[in-house]
Amino acid sequence: MKQHTYLSVLAILLLSWLGVLASPPLEAADPNTFNRLMKAAPKHNLPPAEDGIHDPNGEGTLLLQPPREAFANLIKDKSGNYVNWVTSLEKGKINPRFDRLDPNAKPIVMNLDIVREVKGSMPDVVYPHKQHTEWLDCSNCHPAIFQPQKGANQISMAAILLGEKCGVCHGKVAFPVSAQTCRRCHSKPKGKKTAAVKQGKASTSGGN
Ligand code: HEC
Ligand code: HEC
Ligand code: HEC
Repeated sequence: MKQHTYLSVLAILLLSWLGVLASPPLEAADPNTFNRLMKAAPKHNLPPAEDGIHDPNGEGTLLLQPPREAFANLIKDKSGNYVNWVTSLEKGKINPRFDRLDPNAKPIVMNLDIVREVKGSMPDVVYPHKQHTEWLDCSNCHPAIFQPQKGANQISMAAILLGEKCGVCHGKVAFPVSAQTCRRCHSKPKGKKTAAVKQGKASTSGGN
């Protein structure tokens, strides 16, 4: 992996993050863009001069690598910015620096899944520490976003869609909530739990 490739990927991630903070006023005026996570597909990954974030007359704007070019060799996804970042990292398509100044810094990866049971028919949510700590530091989430204790935090879809809890990142710098992504978070089918306790008391298991 060439250094300039992953640097531009990092730059684009950073710029898209900044872009969210400075959402263009046009969008705020349109009542149908409340859920900015579900923008029409053709609007994604426009070149910097057309993305509504960068100054089209700025000298540096045309020097920036267009996202589509930078993303061309990465693993595709079906929504968000159409890149599956987790698989791209797993397959070595990108090699992000964990520390801006230290090219040899390695993340402390923690392999701990937290299962959050969901009432109703949606599969339970599995929050995987592993895939997060490959990119993030513990302090990115603990304690400001989540108390580090299973079940101590109240999380709901409404909060996520409003940009809180998981939504601090999902929909901004990580894959958004969309019809294609429900199952990435809601990944533990209720049936599995039922199967595990079947021999004991099958009649009280389930929960649908
Ligand atoms: C992307 C956000 C995020 C990052 C980064 C993160 N965590 Fe967590 N952590 C969570 C969430 C969400 C929970 C579950 C909280 C709940 O269930 O209410 C959790 C729970 C925990 C728990 C409680 C486990 C239990 O069984 O009670 C510990 C301990 C913990 N995290 C430690 C860490 C450490 C150490 C790191 C860094 C190596 C880390 N976390 C990084 C989001 C994160
Ligand atoms: C970024 C991860 C994530 C994505 C994507 C996601 N969910 Fe959730 N969802 C959660 C979490 C976390 C909870 C809270 C679980 C709990 O009660 O602790 C939740 C809760 C829910 C609940 C329970 C009631 C509520 O509103 O809290 C429903 C229903 C639900 N999700 C439906 C969906 C549907 C439908 C989609 C796809 C359009 C979706 N979710 C996508 C993480 C996600
Ligand atoms: C501090 C930022 C941050 C927070 C908060 C956060 N995530 Fe993530 N999450 C990421 C990043 C970054 C990735 C990797 C990039 C991507 O997949 O878009 C990721 C990836 C994931 C994945 C994909 C794992 C895979 O194998 O493909 C799941 C599932 C997920 N997050 C669920 C959650 C849930 C559920 C919550 C809330 C309990 C949450 N995340 C909170 C940043 C965050």
